[in-house]
Amino acid sequence: MKGEDRMIFAKENGRKNIGAPDKLFGVSQKAKAKTAALGRDNVINSTIGVLMNDDGDLVVLDSVTECIHKLKPEDYAAYAPILGTPDYIEAVKKAVFLDEMPNSFLEACYTPGGTGAIRNAISAYTAVGDKVLTSDWHWSPYSIIASEIGREITTYKLFDNDRKFNVDSFEDSLLKLLETQEQVLVIVNTPAHNPTGYTFTLEDWDNLISVVKKLHDKKVVILTDIAYLDFAGDAAEYRKFFKKLENPPANMLPLIAFSASKGYTMYGMRLGALICMAPDEETAKEFKDIMSVECRGSWSNGNRAAMTVLSDIMGNKELFAGVTDERDIYMEILHKRGKAFMEGATAADLKICPYDSGFFITVPCAKAEEVSEELQKDNVYVVTLGQGIRVSVSSNTEKECRLMPAKIKTAMARCGL
Ligand SMILES: Cc1ncc(COP(=O)(O)O)c(C=O)c1O
Repeated sequence: MKGEDRMIFAKENGRKNIGAPDKLFGVSQKAKAKTAALGRDNVINSTIGVLMNDDGDLVVLDSVTECIHKLKPEDYAAYAPILGTPDYIEAVKKAVFLDEMPNSFLEACYTPGGTGAIRNAISAYTAVGDKVLTSDWHWSPYSIIASEIGREITTYKLFDNDRKFNVDSFEDSLLKLLETQEQVLVIVNTPAHNPTGYTFTLEDWDNLISVVKKLHDKKVVILTDIAYLDFAGDAAEYRKFFKKLENPPANMLPLIAFSASKGYTMYGMRLGALICMAPDEETAKEFKDIMSVECRGSWSNGNRAAMTVLSDIMGNKELFAGVTDERDIYMEILHKRGKAFMEGATAADLKICPYDSGFFITVPCAKAEEVSEELQKDNVYVVTLGQGIRVSVSSNTEKECRLMPAKIKTAMARCGL
């Protein structure tokens, strides 16, 4: 049956339509087609959100691949316990906190990637109809994850006029939400935020926590999305902020969304965890109880093979050193690419969001769609955000990163900016 007579079976359930076509997929297809026609040297594809080497191939850590090859049938055939294997729960705590275990009642559960952790946190710590607070620049799937379970994302301004964490906007937005909600879940994506590359400083954390402290009779759950932690820079330095979450005010609960997608190049194996830094035993138990229902009611048991891989790595000092040594080599490449883009931006007088580290850099731009189309005429493909353009330094060569800012500046000028 075609056209008007066709019956529609899928439910909109509050969406604007059944499911909009993926804009990102469209531009990335165009970039691929252009690359096939003109060759890799003549097209800059900055739409891909994974780490690629200079030949355009996905970076896969050999040390992780070796562990995958050693898996035994029972590692992938058997069900894992709902919350994850006990070895994995210990491994994931080690992977996140290394030798600085926080002085909290730590609990964790397996989730399929960081996405699953964000989903479980929203589902368990907000009510249907609630708003979840995050920054104006954010990873867009947060909205889909929230709306698919009947919640909504609302935002505060991440940067103030001095390009620093806008604590006033954070406080205003939080207060406004607490007029109608007795509890708010806040998502903070740091370090190496997607899409800007910003990292919360220790002072930013102090400011954020003191806002929460002031609201003593209102409950605030802080979910830190650390998807890019292991590609941010020095491991100990970028973990210092965990100390700030160790003794939270009584009205604050810190949660951590871990993802093995980037740090362990296990994107496709769907490995992640939601970690609760509970202040007391009862809150830790409450976390475990609610997570066993959240997991059972969404994906049920997790990927045992993937859990075994991380457990093996974290259980063997040499294996872990192999992973970190290999990762350091790619981190240096990533760092050089980010630096090249920033130097190019300074030379071209292109304004970018404050970038510290990570896979992405954002150029604020009022006519993002128009500029993106103009860039495509120059064989440059980028991702548009509401008020900006995102480039993916993780997938471009250092040379491309140095070239892009001038091209963006020219395209903006052609669009009257
Ligand atoms: C900011 C951020 N959080 C979470 C994720 C989730 O990643 P995954 O579900 O693959 O672990 C991503 C993936 O791109 C991300 O960019």
